[in-house]
Amino acid sequence: MENVRKVKVGVIGLGARGLPLLNVVFLPMWEHGLLEVTAVCDYYSDRAEEGAKAVETKTGVRPFCTTDWHEVIEHPDVEAVLVLTAWESHIDMCIASMKAGKRVGVEVGCAYSIDDCFRLVETFEETGVHCMMLENCCYGRRELMGLNMARLGVFGTVVHCSGGYMHDLREEIVNGDIKRHYRQRNYMLRNCENYPTHELGPIMPVLNINHGNRFVSLNSVSSCAKGLHEYAVEHRPDDPIAKCDFAQGDIVTTVLKCADGRTAVLTLDTTLPRIYSRGFTVRGTKGMYCGDGDYIHMDGESEFDSLQSKAGNAESYAEKYEHPIWKEYHKNPIGGHDGIDWLVYNAFIESVREDITPPIDTYDTATLMCISSLSEQSIAMGGAPVAVPDFTRGKWIERQEKPEEDKSTYSLYK
Ligand SMILES: NC(=O)c1ccc[n+]([C@@H]2O[C@H](COP(=O)([O-])OP(=O)(O)OC[C@H]3O[C@@H](n4cnc5c(N)ncnc54)[C@H](O)[C@@H]3O)[C@@H](O)[C@H]2O)c1
Repeated sequence: MENVRKVKVGVIGLGARGLPLLNVVFLPMWEHGLLEVTAVCDYYSDRAEEGAKAVETKTGVRPFCTTDWHEVIEHPDVEAVLVLTAWESHIDMCIASMKAGKRVGVEVGCAYSIDDCFRLVETFEETGVHCMMLENCCYGRRELMGLNMARLGVFGTVVHCSGGYMHDLREEIVNGDIKRHYRQRNYMLRNCENYPTHELGPIMPVLNINHGNRFVSLNSVSSCAKGLHEYAVEHRPDDPIAKCDFAQGDIVTTVLKCADGRTAVLTLDTTLPRIYSRGFTVRGTKGMYCGDGDYIHMDGESEFDSLQSKAGNAESYAEKYEHPIWKEYHKNPIGGHDGIDWLVYNAFIESVREDITPPIDTYDTATLMCISSLSEQSIAMGGAPVAVPDFTRGKWIERQEKPEEDKSTYSLYK
């Protein structure tokens, strides 16, 4: 990777995600000669300044620093833009960046309308400038291994996948006003599958979504909302937050149906006590991988085997089925977060430097981004099915696997 051209990036958003990424991923990437951070931005000036200082301290070079994101996109020394801000701002920043001819990598999160997802795709089609969702969980070790096993046919015919964003966020959300964090206002006002991409990102390549298959419909059902209110009453009894009526249901279950009949189930579970899990699961006619318990079960093995006897056995399959991307990364692991941030940001930077299609392209990004809005509609209609738009407008049929056209080292479809 050394001795390649450094991509000049502008970073917008230096909150809970942006600042650690700058320190743990972008500055080490700079050291490896892969990028330079030429501009930083946050509308909180203290955060923008902290970002600029981190860059200056490490490299001796002070980047352009601003509280106005337009200035980052317009800056002549910025070649590609990283959007690490609150969900509400993603679409406008991505579209402005693409219109300015600058590729954009956007942190995970969804759009607030289907129209916005089409605007994103249309901007790509008009400008030819790519937008890549930086879905790090696509590069999770087990997600990649499950994908590899599915591609090799080890599970037989894959018919169903599931996963979730299962993370107790009560402290972060209830204290969002103190922490200046955007999630609180979203949980107050909306009820939807608001964070589907950590599980759906890895599921999409397994099901060949936008590459020979597509989602056709979605149903979402939400439980009532109790977790945040009870947490607020217990932890901040004298603050207005204790009187807040949160709109977001505690558990949201979403079912996606594919054109070829396969299904996926997503779970949003962020406001009740629990251990963290993404629960990535692949079910086929010959076997399965299950993230909860990290086990593999194959046809012919006893159906009465206990979970205790299977738990953790996936590791014994790793030598044979580890994904090549992970094998390569594992030779020299850098970047924290089990490598997933390093891999996804390197995938984006490689796509800019080499002028190739990113492994999660604009159509995939729009597909991931539409889920919240669709699930909001479905929940409001008591779980009624809603159609999932075809952002490729039919191109998914021809976009079968074409390894020769997929030049990314980080491809999820080869
Ligand atoms: N991939 C992961 O593992 C992971 C983990 C955490 C967060 N995220 C994603 O990262 C993004 C940011 O999350 P966070 O937890 O850092 O949130 P945060 O609220 O802590 O930080 C967001 C920052 O963006 C800034 N911002 C928002 N709108 C802006 C605007 N219009 N102009 C300039 N700055 C603006 C805010 O001031 C804030 O500092 C979200 O998309 C989130 O989903 C991803």
